[in-house]
Amino acid sequence: MHFKQLSVLALAGHAFAQQTPTLAQALNATAELSQLSTVLGLVPELVQALSSAQNITILAPSNSAFGRVPNATLQGLTSNTGILSALLQYHVLNGTYRAAQITNSSAFVPTLLTNPLFANVTGGQRVRAIQSNGKVSFFSGLLDNSTVSTADVNFTGGVIHIIDHVLTLPESASKTAVAAGLTSLAGALNATNLTSTVDNLRDVTIFAPANAAFQAIGSGLANLSAADTTNILTYHVVPGVVGYSSGLQNGTVIPTVNGQNLTITINNGSVFVNNAKVVIPDVLIAGGVVHVIDAVLNPSNRTIVNPTASAGAPAFSGASSATNAPFTSGVPTPSRSVAAAGPSASGSSPVGSAGAAPKQTAAVGAILGLGAAMVHFL
Ligand SMILES: *[C@@H]1O[C@H](CO)[C@@H](O)[C@H](O)[C@H]1NC(C)=O
Ligand SMILES: *[C@@H]1O[C@H](CO)[C@@H](O)[C@H](O)[C@H]1NC(C)=O
Ligand SMILES: *[C@@H]1O[C@H](CO)[C@@H](O)[C@H](O)[C@H]1NC(C)=O
Ligand SMILES: *[C@@H]1O[C@H](CO)[C@@H](O)[C@H](O)[C@H]1NC(C)=O
Ligand SMILES: *[C@@H]1O[C@H](CO)[C@@H](O)[C@H](O)[C@H]1NC(C)=O
Ligand SMILES: *[C@@H]1O[C@H](CO)[C@@H](O)[C@H](O)[C@H]1NC(C)=O
Ligand SMILES: *[C@@H]1O[C@H](CO)[C@@H](O)[C@H](O)[C@H]1NC(C)=O
Ligand SMILES: *[C@@H]1O[C@H](CO)[C@@H](O)[C@H](O)[C@H]1NC(C)=O
Ligand SMILES: *[C@@H]1O[C@H](CO)[C@@H](O)[C@H](O)[C@H]1NC(C)=O
Ligand SMILES: *[C@@H]1O[C@H](CO)[C@@H](O)[C@H](O)[C@H]1NC(C)=O
Ligand SMILES: *[C@@H]1O[C@H](CO)[C@@H](O)[C@H](O)[C@H]1NC(C)=O
Ligand SMILES: *[C@@H]1O[C@H](CO)[C@@H](O)[C@H](O)[C@H]1NC(C)=O
Repeated sequence: MHFKQLSVLALAGHAFAQQTPTLAQALNATAELSQLSTVLGLVPELVQALSSAQNITILAPSNSAFGRVPNATLQGLTSNTGILSALLQYHVLNGTYRAAQITNSSAFVPTLLTNPLFANVTGGQRVRAIQSNGKVSFFSGLLDNSTVSTADVNFTGGVIHIIDHVLTLPESASKTAVAAGLTSLAGALNATNLTSTVDNLRDVTIFAPANAAFQAIGSGLANLSAADTTNILTYHVVPGVVGYSSGLQNGTVIPTVNGQNLTITINNGSVFVNNAKVVIPDVLIAGGVVHVIDAVLNPSNRTIVNPTASAGAPAFSGASSATNAPFTSGVPTPSRSVAAAGPSASGSSPVGSAGAAPKQTAAVGAILGLGAAMVHFL
């Protein structure tokens, strides 16, 4: 009798120790996630959905990740449950992805963010997952990245990774262009009244020329009619497909909004589209993805530059460089840190000059962070 009772207790204790915690228990048991628990408390419907979900991965910002969000932004966020829900849904991957499954080649993983007020990517807005030097990182809007500090915390619905920065919701094409210092493109879209059309596209790939690319052919652009400019801009927009870098293939021919095709060529990881080189791939936007390129594409000159070249080549013969970046007057200047890190609106580095690409990388990479990014929604 005595023995029997003991063994039942021992078994019960054993079973308890083995039991996978529920989401609430896992969050509650992790001191670093107390802030996340508090924030989740503001959106009970989402918590209920997540608690019963199976096969998900939660990217859980640590308390110090929340500590990096400016107070005003956090206040705005917590007083708007629509935005908060969208942001939190963006932190949930559809599928169980253990750290070991994330490799050193980029994966664009779908999240539970499908609300068209915040994302127009079929199957759910993506994060870019990658492992490098033993660290797992997730890239979100504006190329912001979050690194996993504690991986593979099990719960009944899947797995939790604790991350060091709150993810940034990918923004519209035009806001991303402004924030990233692609102000010539932003201004050109505005000047042709294409901004809202481009921003509202679902599943789109945009090849976005850097300011230096527009500047290099500035004299030619100055003489264009609005219709000609529209004809050029629409040649940079691929409708109906989100072409992340991981899916681009050598020789792929893709139709654009313009009607003419673009040709992708790839050599040793170096990606070209017609005459232009992709200098910054995979900037996630609300409707898909942007790849920054170093030359403006020309629907009337679809020359394919050999992808072994170190840079793209201008496709507008006879056009010469302008003093200022075209189309930028009236476009808001990016935040101070962007302007400081990248070329200014009247930047003097012509495309193709050594250092143009790294400068542009800095411009895009140094952007804002969640704080300023979120403010656009508030
Ligand atoms: C969370 O942990 C506290 C003790 O640390 C406990 O009192 C509480 O019941 C727990 N809540 C849940 C939902 O597990
Ligand atoms: C937010 O405000 C608290 C005081 O209320 C302060 O300790 C903290 O540093 C502030 N955080 C940020 C990111 O500004
Ligand atoms: C998760 O992805 C599957 C396909 O792999 C899809 O059927 C399902 O609807 C997605 N779930 C959510 C919540 O988006
Ligand atoms: C989990 O989700 C992933 C991605 O949607 C899917 O490929 C996989 O089959 C799912 N596994 C289970 C057990 O449902
Ligand atoms: C998604 O597309 C719809 C319809 O075009 C549009 O109203 C909405 O603003 C778009 N969402 C975002 C985040 O751009
Ligand atoms: C990730 O972001 C940090 C800033 O938070 C930056 O210093 C670092 O270079 C970024 N890492 C990569 C691989 O871009
Ligand atoms: C988490 O779950 C996986 C798969 O079921 C298992 O291999 C692993 O040992 C578990 N980790 C812990 C800490 O229980
Ligand atoms: C853009 O829209 C404005 C206001 O509707 C109009 O005045 C202007 O002519 C339009 N520009 C073009 C290039 O269509
Ligand atoms: C890419 O395609 C081009 C023709 O479109 C071909 O000449 C080249 O060899 C291909 N390169 C690779 C790396 O396959
Ligand atoms: C674009 O490419 C497709 C497939 O290669 C072809 O059928 C179509 O005619 C091309 N369009 C133009 C305008 O050249
Ligand atoms: C077409 O583009 C190629 C390569 O970018 C350039 O060498 C050539 O001069 C351009 N031709 C015209 C007519 O613009
Ligand atoms: C957009 O274009 C309008 C004219 O259609 C102009 O008044 C406005 O200043 C421009 N805004 C930006 C941000 O370029």
